[in-house]
Amino acid sequence: MTKADTIFKEFREHSVAEFFKKNRQMLGYSGKIRSLTTIVHEYVTNGLDACEEAGILPDIYVRIEQLGNEHYRVTVQDNGPGIPKTHVGKVFAQMLAGTKFHRFIQQRGQQGIGASGCTMYSQITTGKPTKIVTSPQKGKIYECEVMFDVKRNRPLISGEVEYPGDMQGTKIIAEFKDVTFNWSDYGPAEYLRRTAVANPHAKITFVAPDKQRFVYERAVHVLPKKPKPSKPHPKGITVDDLLDYAHHAKARTIKSFLTQTFDRMSSAKADEIEKLTSIDFKRKPDSVTWRDAEEIVDAIKKTKFLAPNTSNLYPMGEKQIEKAILNVLEPEFHAVRTRSPSVYRGGVPFIVEVGIAYGGKAGKGNGDSAKTEVMRFANRAPLLFDAGGDVITKVVNEIDWKRYGMRKLDDVPATIIVNVTSTYIPYTSAGKQAIADIDEIHKEVALALMEVGRSVGSYIRREARKGEKQAKRKTLLKYVPEVAGAVAKLTGDSKKELEVKLLDMINRKYAAGQMGDGPEEERDG
Ligand SMILES: Nc1ncnc2c1ncn2[C@@H]1O[C@H](COP(=O)(O)OP(=O)(O)O)[C@@H](O)[C@H]1O
Ligand SMILES: [Mg+2]
Repeated sequence: MTKADTIFKEFREHSVAEFFKKNRQMLGYSGKIRSLTTIVHEYVTNGLDACEEAGILPDIYVRIEQLGNEHYRVTVQDNGPGIPKTHVGKVFAQMLAGTKFHRFIQQRGQQGIGASGCTMYSQITTGKPTKIVTSPQKGKIYECEVMFDVKRNRPLISGEVEYPGDMQGTKIIAEFKDVTFNWSDYGPAEYLRRTAVANPHAKITFVAPDKQRFVYERAVHVLPKKPKPSKPHPKGITVDDLLDYAHHAKARTIKSFLTQTFDRMSSAKADEIEKLTSIDFKRKPDSVTWRDAEEIVDAIKKTKFLAPNTSNLYPMGEKQIEKAILNVLEPEFHAVRTRSPSVYRGGVPFIVEVGIAYGGKAGKGNGDSAKTEVMRFANRAPLLFDAGGDVITKVVNEIDWKRYGMRKLDDVPATIIVNVTSTYIPYTSAGKQAIADIDEIHKEVALALMEVGRSVGSYIRREARKGEKQAKRKTLLKYVPEVAGAVAKLTGDSKKELEVKLLDMINRKYAAGQMGDGPEEERDG
C-alpha cells in the first residue's frame, strides 16, 4: 500500500447537515442568548415570508417557556398558507431545501437552512424531535414529528396524524437546551419589538417565560406588495452562474435562453453579444462550455444595458415607517426617508430606507439616561448581532452627528432605523446578521442618514432656541409687577393696565406660538 493509499483510507464524504452541525456558529448558534434569538428569528421570518407570499396579513404568535436550567420550549404559530404534507420533512430537516434560494425574490429567507437549522439544534441539545402542526388545506390538519438524519441530510418523520379541524397556518413546537432567555438587546423580546417596528402590517404576540404578554397590534392594514421573482441582471453574472443557468435552461437556443433568463436582455442585445463572440447563438444552451461562458460574460461586460428593473423591490415606504415609528416608539419628533433604488455589483438592485425617532420611547433606556439605539434591518428582518462588521454600523459611526445637533450620539434619546431591501442581501456569513460593506450600499446608507440627520438637526436647534426664549420670557415676567409699579408712580397710569400691556408685549415677543409651534407652550411660564 502506498503512502497515498494509507492516507486516503481516511477520505470521507460529508453532508451539508454534518458540516453545519460542526459549524453551528455559522448559523447563529453561538452563545446561549444568541442561539435562542436565532431560533425565534428563523421561525418568525419564515412565518412572515409565508404569509406575505400567500397574501395574508401576518398574525404571529411566539411563546417561550422555561422547562429547566438553560432548557426552553419555543412555540411559534403563523396564520400562513400551511406546508404541504409532502414537504414538511424537507422544510424542517433537510438543509439547502426551500422555495427561495433559487429565485431572485425579495424575502427574508434565502438559503434554505433556517428551519432545518433549528431542528438540528433542538435534536443535538435535547435528543428530541420538532413537532409540526400545519393546515395546508382548509378543514384539514396534519401533525408530525421531525428529526434529522444528519449523515444523509434527510428527514426522519414519525407520529404522523391527520384529522379534520379549523386552523390556519403552521405551528412549530420545539425544545432546546444550552440556550438562555434574557431581556437584553440581544434577546428574543427585543428581536420581536424590532420586528414589530419594521412590520407594521403584522400582529405580533409574544409570551415570555415569566408569562408577560406583549402584543404589537397591526398599525397598517394593507399588505406590502407581494414580492415577485425577478430576473438576474446580466451585469451581475459570473461565468459559473451563466454556465449553471445555461445547463438548466429549457430554451431551445442560446439566444432565447439569454433573453428569457436575464433582465434587460432584449433580442437586439442578445444579437449584439453574439457578434462580440465566436459562438453561434442558435446552438442549444446545454452545449455552452466554460470557455463559451467566459466569452459571453466578457461580451456582456463590453455591452451597455439598462439599469436593473427595480419594480420587484418593495421597500417599507415612508408612510409605513412613519406609522411603525409612531406605533412603537411614540417619539416627539421623527424623520423618514426612502431612497430611490440603486444597484450593487453592477446587477443586484437594492433600496435603503432610514428613520430617526427622537424623544418619547425612542432610544435605549428612559428619560435622561436614554441613549441612541441603532436598529438594523435586512428585508425588514432585524439584525441584532455582528454589528461591528455591518455596513450600517460603519456608516452610523462615520457620520458627524454633531452637525445635526447630536453632540455625542450616545447621549441622545434617539432610535435610528435602517432597512436595506434587496432581492439578494449580501450577508457577511450564513448567520445572516450583518450586511457586507459594499461601496454602493455604504454610500446610499450615508446619503439617507444625512438627509434625516438634517431634519433632526433643525428640530433639535429649534427646540433649543425655544428653550432659550422661554427662559428669557420667564425672567422678564418676574419683573413685570415691579416695572409696572415704578412706571405707574411716574406717569400716574393704572398699574393694572400697565401690567397687562407689558405681559402682552413679552408674550408677543417670546411666546412659542410665534415660532410656528404648538400652542401648549403658552400654558406654562
Ligand atoms: N411557516 C411556514 N409556512 C410555510 N412555508 C414555510 C414555513 N417555514 C418554512 N417554510 C418553507 O420552508 C422553506 C425552508 O425554510 P428555511 O429553512 O427557513 O429556508 P429559507 O427561509 O431560507 O428558504 C422555505 O423556503 C419555505 O418554502
Ligand atoms: Mg427561513
